[in-house]
Amino acid sequence: MHRKKILIVDDEKLIRWSLRQKLNEWDLEVVEAEDAREALRIFPQESPDLVILDVNLPDEKGTELLKQFRNAVPELPVVMITAYGSIDDAVSAMRGGAYDFITKPIDFLKLENTIQNALETVSLKEEVAYYKEREQERSDPGKIVAADPAMREVMQFTRTIAESEAAIVLLQGESGTGKDLLAQTIHHSSRRQAGPYLVINCSAIPENLLESELFGYEKGAFTDAKQQKKGLAELAHTGTLFLDEISTLSLPLQPKLLRFLETQTFKRVGGLRDIEVDLRVIAATNQDLEAASLNGEFRRDLFFRLNVCPIHIPPLRDRMDDILPLSRHFIQEYNLKFRKNIKGLNKQAERMFLDYLWPGNVRELKNALERAMIFEKGRYITTSYLPFRPDRSGEATSTSSRAPGGRTDAGTTMNLEEMERELLIKALKKASGNKSQAARILGITRDTLRYKIQKWDLKEDDWLGPA
Ligand SMILES: Nc1ncnc2c1ncn2[C@@H]1O[C@H](COP(=O)(O)OP(=O)(O)O)[C@@H](O)[C@H]1O
Ligand SMILES: [Mg+2]
Repeated sequence: MHRKKILIVDDEKLIRWSLRQKLNEWDLEVVEAEDAREALRIFPQESPDLVILDVNLPDEKGTELLKQFRNAVPELPVVMITAYGSIDDAVSAMRGGAYDFITKPIDFLKLENTIQNALETVSLKEEVAYYKEREQERSDPGKIVAADPAMREVMQFTRTIAESEAAIVLLQGESGTGKDLLAQTIHHSSRRQAGPYLVINCSAIPENLLESELFGYEKGAFTDAKQQKKGLAELAHTGTLFLDEISTLSLPLQPKLLRFLETQTFKRVGGLRDIEVDLRVIAATNQDLEAASLNGEFRRDLFFRLNVCPIHIPPLRDRMDDILPLSRHFIQEYNLKFRKNIKGLNKQAERMFLDYLWPGNVRELKNALERAMIFEKGRYITTSYLPFRPDRSGEATSTSSRAPGGRTDAGTTMNLEEMERELLIKALKKASGNKSQAARILGITRDTLRYKIQKWDLKEDDWLGPA
């Protein structure tokens, strides 16, 4: 987290100096201005997180300046310094939208409290705005292709569950079968669609952080807990919480989740109070949860609780009638994205698509088309750039990262996958390791970034160090 920056606007040098000492002590960065003119000049460059503003300035009334700051940045907390005993000053400060006021001589204990509170309020608001933004990103889950009878049946069942009051839904299916997509669709076709849709990937978050990510924590719950933080369970109130890769949930956390599912209440880490929420939980897994519950890797009671409304998404090899419609769907999508005009698969490619077993399911098919569409020069997708060999009759040949036939000049050209890895590292370096920022740079969600970091097994060492 970046250090918060405070702008002090006061014409008295001694006050500025003593404020600076204190603020630095509290690990805050400080910039100063001695009058309104200077304040307005540096304000846009410095974009402070909070302003301490004297009402009495030589060139302009502090309340006037307050108005200008608040016009520029409506959420900006401004703490006014008023003359001792001047009720008028205090009133006009608060009317003008000041966060709070303090009187001279300054009571530093009170000031510290005020600043802490103000900064906390702002970061809470930002947090909510951040989740709102993520929700927006997900507001259109995209069309689900379901042409195969097996998949059509799944979709019908899914619709019934989505519209029901079922509070817990379990999605089971191999990786890449569309669990994420289905979860979003369930949320958006439920009566909770106006509420938030939040996602947590149980395998992408270190075990010790998962509980606080999920349930939040109270100030002082552990060394770094400098302020209270709400967890996703609380933020998802009235909406849907998607727990991805539920099978990786640690054994100690499982009873806590069970209690939450049974009572819709939880305690923040370090908290005593039960917090009640109203939400739907969708859990997903690519593991056989029942088997895991039989051999002690997953609590049996939790499995039963989750398994009330199970939806099983069949692997792509078991719904062959989806293969070509899905291909058409993604070709259309990539035509738009890459500004191409590919008509479809040619006959051989079609054959190859139907013969292949798709161990990576829809995701693999989508990725295969993406790369073929990048390289293909003609109007149809041929077999030249498909990263697999047909194998419905023979041995499965898994996807290799290189285009077949030595088309990728390994000496000079990076293949797509290597490029992705490089891009990830570049973005993370640019964002100094800040994942949200890196995700924004790449135009992907934070979850996707987490997934990709995992996929490439990237460690901090890969992106710390010189850019
Ligand atoms: N039936 C489908 N129709 C359209 N796109 C799909 C379908 N199933 C999966 N996808 C797409 O394939 C990719 C992988 O799906 P995802 O939901 O992430 O799978 P999972 O969560 O099961 O690993 C995503 O880009 C998703 O949008
Ligand atoms: Mg997934």
